[in-house]
Amino acid sequence: MPDQNQNQIPPQAPTSSQPVTEATTEQPAAENARTQAQQNIATREKNSNPADFWKDAKKAREQLKQGQTSVRDIIAPAAFNVSSGYLRLGSFFVKTLFVFTYPRYIETNWLSPIINYDLSMDTSLYIHPLESKEVMYELKTQVGKLQSSMSISQEKGSPRDPELETALGDVESLRDVLQRGEIRLFQFGLYFTIYAKSVEELKTVTDQLESTLGGLLIYTKETMFQMEQGFNATLPLMKDDINVLRNLDTSSLSSTFPFTSSELTQDDGILYGINRHNNSLIVFDRFTLENANTVVFAKSGSGKSYFVKLEALRYLMLGTDVIVIDPENEYKTLCEAAGGSYLEISLNSDKRINPFDLPYSPTENGEDVLRSNIASLHGLINLMVNGLSPEEDAIVDKALYETYALKDITTDPESQKNEPPLLQDFYNILSNMQGTESLRARLSKFIEGTFANLYNQRTNFELKPGFVVFSVRDLEDQLRPVAIYTVLNYIWTKVRMDMRRRLMIIDEAWWMMQYEDSAKFLHGLAKRARKYYLGLTIISQDVEDFLASRYGKAVVANSSMQILMKQSTASIDIIAETFNLTEGEKYLLLESDVGEGLFFAGLNHVAFKAVASYTEDQIITTDPKQLME
Ligand SMILES: Nc1ncnc2c1ncn2[C@@H]1O[C@H](COP(=O)(O)OP(=O)(O)OP(=O)(O)O)[C@@H](O)[C@H]1O
Ligand SMILES: [Mg+2]
Repeated sequence: MPDQNQNQIPPQAPTSSQPVTEATTEQPAAENARTQAQQNIATREKNSNPADFWKDAKKAREQLKQGQTSVRDIIAPAAFNVSSGYLRLGSFFVKTLFVFTYPRYIETNWLSPIINYDLSMDTSLYIHPLESKEVMYELKTQVGKLQSSMSISQEKGSPRDPELETALGDVESLRDVLQRGEIRLFQFGLYFTIYAKSVEELKTVTDQLESTLGGLLIYTKETMFQMEQGFNATLPLMKDDINVLRNLDTSSLSSTFPFTSSELTQDDGILYGINRHNNSLIVFDRFTLENANTVVFAKSGSGKSYFVKLEALRYLMLGTDVIVIDPENEYKTLCEAAGGSYLEISLNSDKRINPFDLPYSPTENGEDVLRSNIASLHGLINLMVNGLSPEEDAIVDKALYETYALKDITTDPESQKNEPPLLQDFYNILSNMQGTESLRARLSKFIEGTFANLYNQRTNFELKPGFVVFSVRDLEDQLRPVAIYTVLNYIWTKVRMDMRRRLMIIDEAWWMMQYEDSAKFLHGLAKRARKYYLGLTIISQDVEDFLASRYGKAVVANSSMQILMKQSTASIDIIAETFNLTEGEKYLLLESDVGEGLFFAGLNHVAFKAVASYTEDQIITTDPKQLME
């Protein structure tokens, strides 16, 4: 910089006239340079002004910033042109309307047809609470004016004026409710900004909106010559330069709340997904329904398990226990992430369940407990031996009662605390009965054969709270229905002993529909779960098979929540018939993407999309590509 150079002292070159002393010869060039640099710094410090320095830095920073891309650059339109009747915002034509009058009465939820319109529109509602004291004062003045007008007309002998009387009645009743604090008054401004691709489209959409609102006796006007202010009023800036406000009381104001149409939002519950009608959130607690059972039907790969895992994960956070029957080892990662227990039920694992276990609960009737357990054991034996003949059928119940009696277990609840018998005991009882040879022969593989380990042992684990998964993947196909049945019976026994809020998930439940006995058992569970604070989730990809079974249909009827996701053309008709779908809903299910579908909760239907956060997705995905990463 020039001012610094001005004060620079030139280096002193040794001249011939100077005596060459030892000292000067030893002063090297480096020493000279150092001295000079020190002088330079001293001079610069003396002359520099700190204020200038910061000014320069700020200028530099601003220049740097100008060259960077900001969010504003990305979202802002290329140009903005204001005309009297519309704005041009990039390639869009934009118009704002304001509501200038409302009818005397408006129905609840009147705004929802507008919100649910399939067009691009921004809506703003400005609500300014009014101070009741000031309003009361205003109203009092108003009453005075109205009354004096009435007495003047009376004095003149004019006939009565119904308009004045109505106005006076309105004001008086308003004063009453305001005084009692039953309502409050608000000023309310409502603006709509419409977006269209052309001026013609803008006009059509405006007419459409005006006529819909006009049908409700709500009249609008365009923010003519104030299009920019109108547009700003519908941006999330809280900047209302249009300022067309109307007085509404609490109840009228509450009727404007727009999100009650096809709505599934509660104060409590978990996030199920996004409502595709209006992008609102589906927040819901299935335990508030008549029963907490859910069926999930969709074709393979459409996101059933994903949806259910998401639900399970979120319910866990609300302190609900989750129990899963997992035929595909799909729930392992989720179980580990949730700190749950993963129990493998297979010939090689050491986990054993004794189907003869009885629940001990002081609230239950001992006779019912024994009878219902004998009924489930009957079903289990039937499954194990591939069907009972009518004679065998009659014998089995008797033998089961005797097996329990062997351990002194009767209908007395106290006796039910005794150690339960084993399948071996049942077999021994059969040996002493006539006509059981064939039955014993078919049962023997569970007593001493290959499968003896699995069912002829005492239960050796406890059902812990939290997340518990029973994996049945590594079982032979022929054993699987028996295993699922036993596991379900075990869980059911435990559920009755200790009441907690629980979800039980049965993935690929069509396995159970293949056999009459397991289908019947599942139906029994669905019917009784509610009493034990249990919500059953039944997932099936094989909709036709499931619904072809009369037990399957009954399970659906006993499930207050139903989730349908993408369907194949082959199954859509039976689905449409079972769930009373409209043509539109049928089409929606055929065209759904992964994770999308219809959500039925009681009488409500909504189209939804399940959405997970990044972390949730990492835990629950079954996408092989993602899993390998
Ligand atoms: N809502 C969603 N968002 C993102 N990905 C999803 C969503 N739902 C499912 N997926 C992905 O789609 C794939 C299939 O999902 P899922 O395993 O849940 O299907 P499924 O219906 O249970 O199939 P199957 O009947 O074969 O068990 C998985 O890779 C999963 O990660
Ligand atoms: Mg699945």
